[in-house]
Amino acid sequence: MNNKEKTLNFPQNFYWGASTSAHQVEGGNINDWSEWEKKNAERLAGEANNKWQNWQKEKFPEMFEPQNYISGIACDHYNRYKEDFDIAKSLNHNAHRLSIEWSRIEPEEGKFNEKEIEHYRNVISSLKERGIEPFVTLWHWTLPLWVRDNGGWENKKTIDNFIQYAKKISSELKDVKFWIIFNEPEIYSTKSYLQGSWSPNKKSIIKYLNVGKNLIKAHIETYLALKSINQNYNIGIAKNNIHFEDYKKKPINRLFKKFADNWWNFRFLGKIEKHLDFIGLNHYFHNRINYGFNKNENKILNDLGWEIYPKSIYSVLVGLKKYNLPIYITENGLADKDDKNREWFIKETLKNVFMAIKDGVDIRGYLYWSFLDNHEWDKGFWPRFGLVEIDYKTQERKIRPSAKVYAEICKNNELIIKN
Ligand code: BGC
Repeated sequence: MNNKEKTLNFPQNFYWGASTSAHQVEGGNINDWSEWEKKNAERLAGEANNKWQNWQKEKFPEMFEPQNYISGIACDHYNRYKEDFDIAKSLNHNAHRLSIEWSRIEPEEGKFNEKEIEHYRNVISSLKERGIEPFVTLWHWTLPLWVRDNGGWENKKTIDNFIQYAKKISSELKDVKFWIIFNEPEIYSTKSYLQGSWSPNKKSIIKYLNVGKNLIKAHIETYLALKSINQNYNIGIAKNNIHFEDYKKKPINRLFKKFADNWWNFRFLGKIEKHLDFIGLNHYFHNRINYGFNKNENKILNDLGWEIYPKSIYSVLVGLKKYNLPIYITENGLADKDDKNREWFIKETLKNVFMAIKDGVDIRGYLYWSFLDNHEWDKGFWPRFGLVEIDYKTQERKIRPSAKVYAEICKNNELIIKN
């Protein structure tokens, strides 16, 4: 280290790793999304021409192929999880976030599939054997077909169904310490019910509000149910928070910021804060408010055309301080096929995470999104978020250069920056 460099030491026992979700990596799922993909693949391929910029169309011609939108065998992680966890270990990860696929555990109402439970038991042991702490999400957006047919989260009955499933799986996977009940409930309700662009494509403010209400109730009741199984479980949420920036602190911008923060960042959390042991933060977006929303400079963009603005995580973390709960960053990352910006992005983000820790925010882990390239919902396979690249034709795994740089940070629990 030369004297122009500075070492940022992260707290002891900090968790370092990456995240995935079942539907996006496992392959072979039969749920509301797998059905939706089959129905919508042609349409999505046809719409790509109007949706994306020329540079994106040139770089990712697969967006015009219906096959891109069908998750199919995805990364075949369901069968290759051991090989994948060997990679995570070789990259010095000591934590890993995954989700349980409800449709595998309970393919029919009230009938639990013991073989699938055994599968996840093996998944958890494989992580533990490698010294990797699992963070387990109970619901990352996909529903068993029978739940979909009952009306999904529009129906109050789904709350009870979900609790039964959550109780079953959490009493079987006793070695899991960290449970995340829901992944980004507000992204789901917005996309599926306010914009109506995701399964089940029901655009209605009333439904949107109702789904939100049911998800809040389900969170609280599931929290209590899991605690009654094991008081020591650490239970949280993976919450998508956005940095709303009140540009130049102009009064009108501040007013908009206050409104947006309260609606997007703090409303759900405010309702469940007494039923949380930690906050999982998923962070992707900066939204500059300057007499209107989304006035970002967009100096650097990722492959999806989203602004890359690593500074934003600092404000979001400081904004969560008021809950007085430990924070784990459960998702943060970018689509970057050529791995051009990822190393820089991770380092800049971690600099800001470190600053937030110094400013008193209790941050205990960082899980990059994503461990593997995967199936990015209605966009399909073309966006490449992975530390590990997947060749979908051969299922070959290739560690991206940035993953190796991140591995050094994980190993040493420190980040070396230029002063
Ligand atoms: C979701 C992931 C998704 C990622 C990138 C998050 O909102 O939880 O499933 O792949 O963003 O878009």
